[in-house]
Formats: sequence, structure tokens, C-alpha cells
Amino acid sequence: CGIVGYIGQKQAQDILVNGLKKLEYRGYDSAGVAIDVGGSIVVSKSVGRLKELESKINGTKLLGFRGIGHTRWATHGRPSDENSHPHFDCTEKFVVVHNGIIENYAELREELKALGHEFKSETDTEVISHLIEELYNGNLLETFRMAVARLEGSYACAVMSEDEKDKIIVARKDSPLVVGIGVGENFIASDIPAILEHTRNAYILDDYEIAVLTADSVDIFDRQGKHIKKSVFEVKWDAVSAEKGGYDHFMLKEIDEQPKALKDTLRGRIDEQNQKIKLEEVKLTAKELQDIQKIHIVACGTAYHAGLVGKYAIEQLVRIPVEVEVASEFRYRNPILNEKTLVMVISQSGETADTLAALRLGKAAGSRVAAITNVVGSSVSREADDVIYTWAGPEIAVASTKAYTTQLLAVYMFALYMAEIRQTISEQARIEIYQALQYIPEQAARILADKDHAKKVAQGLIDWNSAFFIGRGMDYTVALEGALKLKEISYIHAEAYAAGELKHGTIALIEEGIPVISLLTQPDVYEKTMSNVIEVKARDAKIIAVVNEGDVKSKDVADELIEIPKTHPILTPILSVIPLQLISYYASVLRGNDVDKPRNLAKSVTVE
Ligand code: G6P
Repeated sequence: CGIVGYIGQKQAQDILVNGLKKLEYRGYDSAGVAIDVGGSIVVSKSVGRLKELESKINGTKLLGFRGIGHTRWATHGRPSDENSHPHFDCTEKFVVVHNGIIENYAELREELKALGHEFKSETDTEVISHLIEELYNGNLLETFRMAVARLEGSYACAVMSEDEKDKIIVARKDSPLVVGIGVGENFIASDIPAILEHTRNAYILDDYEIAVLTADSVDIFDRQGKHIKKSVFEVKWDAVSAEKGGYDHFMLKEIDEQPKALKDTLRGRIDEQNQKIKLEEVKLTAKELQDIQKIHIVACGTAYHAGLVGKYAIEQLVRIPVEVEVASEFRYRNPILNEKTLVMVISQSGETADTLAALRLGKAAGSRVAAITNVVGSSVSREADDVIYTWAGPEIAVASTKAYTTQLLAVYMFALYMAEIRQTISEQARIEIYQALQYIPEQAARILADKDHAKKVAQGLIDWNSAFFIGRGMDYTVALEGALKLKEISYIHAEAYAAGELKHGTIALIEEGIPVISLLTQPDVYEKTMSNVIEVKARDAKIIAVVNEGDVKSKDVADELIEIPKTHPILTPILSVIPLQLISYYASVLRGNDVDKPRNLAKSVTVE
């Protein structure tokens, strides 16, 4: 989602709508504004792209100098007019826009309902305006501070009230928020692009900070309510790179967003006390989960590769057979399905035609259908029986990165959840994986802290017309994804091979200097894979090895050694893919390709 706000001497409506346009890349299934029109707050909102809102308000211009706006990427509640922001309280005196996820909204909603509050939407956000109404003591700042203290989860949130006409108040935790500083006017936005045409001076709010904006002042307070002085951030980016957060390409921005996306996807699904995964959104009963005899994971492209990891994870932890298939094959081969099979589709967009057809096929055959998707309100999310969302946020680059790693996280969580219910995992094993999961976001961030090595490796690749990726077990599935990434954006032909299968033909292609990216992260097959690596090394291939930190043996074999932080072996794909994403990215840049929009490809394939 994206939020904007304005207070000053100009017409707020134009500034808000223009700001929202600049934030549309953050998600766009609905949009809305709230404007103070002569002392009363008027809300206008609409499902659909921003132009729907524009055509709604164009005729009846909302005249006023103070307002907040929102472009939505649905989380709680499908895209609809009612679920669009801004949200009022019961008295329609307080109005709120919010970006993030309020984890305890269900409890708060029940509590507020018991106090007589009536809710108009299914969103988590609406609890904030009602909470403010409930707590209001004549001082909006104080009330807002009390209200946000009750929120768990993430928020960038702005509130306006009819009683305190001179201000907008904002708060942030784990969702970005900037305050643009003008002369006689001030702005808020989720992101710099929305304010750039008005000012280059901004305060970048930190977690738990609250800012009060009037036309002439910006006051910032910390968690305890202490007034703080922040330094002004001077924006040096041009408008185009601002949209990409200062990055040259969306792809790199999205690669870098992975620690946050992973954290967001884990959030709310962790039962810390019992060291378990809780997946409240999965409506399958324990009995239904017990009765499943087989799982078919169906997906396309990168999502299919996430499914392959799912097979390893589920079979290992739950001990039931899992088949993984590309949707375009599955749908035409008359697969054996019944009420004891679970069909699990994985789709970032939730709109891929073949995946959707597979979902419908599963339903028609009487199978339960679960989905992992990134888009709330997408066709897949509407039609599946159970939906596990990845909270990666909008993915814009065609080459999927953060969607893939969060899909992996989702399949792991599902596997752990199911293993727990079917009691196929020991407590010790469950706790080990559970604990390792907590470190994953931070370990991903560690890999991303050093990009120079990936750049150097990419430099060595770009003059080749082909490259190989090898690995065994889970490493093999990551090899497939690494090869796809390299192909789709660098246009270097890449083949992934199960390391042990190489000698049955493909090894004939190994020649002096040819890059072989070798994944060696799985302890149980390490020695076996190493033998295969030595076989290609003996044929003078260049070995780029991805290994666990502290792997001494590979030092002698590898020409380039890429180390990833140690985690539970089952979870390594989330980490080992990251260097491969970076290598592909830099190979594409160095070859002068259009990284975000590679030739012949589309982000979402809604045709067969
Ligand atoms: C397209 C994209 C791929 C993506 C695939 C599946 O081919 O270019 O990056 O993996 O579709 O998309 P989905 O939205 O279903 O995950």
C-alpha cells in the first residue's frame, strides 16, 4: 500500500492524487482520499486503479487544504469500495489511512464491537479509527499514542480529526513513512516519489516515532512522548530512480527487500510460547489434514521451483508423497485426483491462467485446494479453499525474487504445521527448524551486505553463451531456479543438472573455462556432489561454489567461493538462491539488458 498526506495552502485533492499516482507501483487494487472540506471530513474511495477514483472525484472536486490518501494492496479483506481506505470511526470525526498489517486486529475488533462499535469493512485498519474514537480524550496526539501502543504488527498510519483541524498525525512501525518538509505546507508519504515534485527535504521516520504536522511545523516524538530532533534527509535522486528507492532497477530493490519480506511473511505465524508454526488462515481441520494421502503442487516458472522445494520439505517432514508439476502439463494429463488429495497451487500474481486452470481441475475432482499467493483478492485467492499469503509486497521486476523466497517460507511453514498435526516430527526436530527460521531474515540481510563478489562472478560469466548449475537434493531445486534467473534476464543459456546425472550425457559439453555453478550446501549429499564437482573440474570447468560458511574442503576446488550463513539444511534454499539472484542481476546489467523487462517475457501470464 501507499499513503500520502498534505496540509498547507494548496488544494489537497490534486496533491494527494498526484502523490498516489507516484505510489501506484506499491500496489493498486483500490484508492481513496479524505479531505477536510470546510471543517467536515469527506471521504471518497473506489475499488480499482487510481483512475477509477479520479473519475469519481473529478466532477465533484473536494475543496480543502488538508487531506490524506491511500492506494491499497489488499491484505485483510478483498479489494472493494468498503475495504478501501481511508476508514472512519462511528462518529465520522476521525479518519485513518494505514499501510501494514495489524496482527491483533481480530481481538481489538471484538473488544470494540463489545463496546458498541460498528464496523463497515473487513480490514484490519478500521480498528485504528475506532480505537481512537474510543480513547479520545480531547487531545489527538495523546490519544493516537495510546492507540498505536495497542497495535501489534506493522503500520505506517496517518490520522486526521474534525476537532483538531490544524493537523495530521502519523506513526510508524516496520512500514516506511516519510515527512516532506515544505514552506507553509508539509507532506507525508510512504515513499519519497510521492513528495519529490514538492520538496527534496524530508524526515525519514524510524520505528515508534510519531510526527505531528501542521502547515508550518513538524514535531516528532519518540515512543515515550519525548520531543526529538531529527536530521533532515536531502533527497538527491531523480524522479525515476526515486520510484525504485534510489536503485537502478526494481529487481535489485526487490532482492534487497527480501529480509523484510521474509520477516513480514513469518510475522503472526509464530507461536513463540510453544515454538510452533500457527497458520490460522488454513481452514483444513486436523482430521482433514490427517486424511490427506497425497499432495500435488502445481505452479509455473519460479513458483514451480518453489514447489520443488516444497516436495522435499513436505516429504521429509510429513512423510506423504508429493508430486510437483508445471500447471500447463498437469491440466492436460488427466491427473489422478480425489477427495484424499490436496492440490496446492503456488502463484505470485494469483492470475496465471494455467495455474488457475489447475486449481479448478482440482476442485472439480473433489480435491481440497490450497494456494500460496502474494496477491489478496487475486483469482487464485478467491477460488482456493485455503490461502497462505506471502507478504512480499508488490513484485514489479519480471524476474521473481522476493516472491520466490517468501513462497519457500510459506511451504516450510505449511510442512511444519502439517507435520505437527500428523505428529510426524519429533519435538526436537521441530524446535530446531523453528529456531533456525527466526534467523533467516537476518541471515539473508548478511548475504545482501556484500554484493561485490556476485558482481565479480557475473563479470566472469558474461562472455559465455552457456553455463551450468549443479546440485543434489534441495540444492538441485535451487540450481533450477538459478539457471532460470540467469536465462531470463542475462540471456545466457543455462542448464541445471542433478549433479549425479551430469555424467550421463551433459558432461560432454564441459570445456575449458565454462562456468559451473555448484551448490554444496546439503550435508547428506555433500561428498557425492563434491565428487561430481571434481569431475567437471578435471575437465577444466570454472567452479563457482555456493557453500555453507566454514566449508574448508571446497576452498581447494572452487575458483570462486560463495559462502552463505549456516542454517538448518532444509532451509538453505532461501539463502543459497540469493547469491544466484545477484549474479544473474549483475550479468544482465553488465550485458546491457533491460533487467526489469526482459525480452519476450511478461510478469503475469494470463493466457495459455
Ligand atoms: C511468468 C513470470 C515468472 C513467474 C511465472 C508464474 O512467467 O515471468 O517470473 O514465475 O509467470 O507466475 P505466478 O504469478 O503464477 O507466480
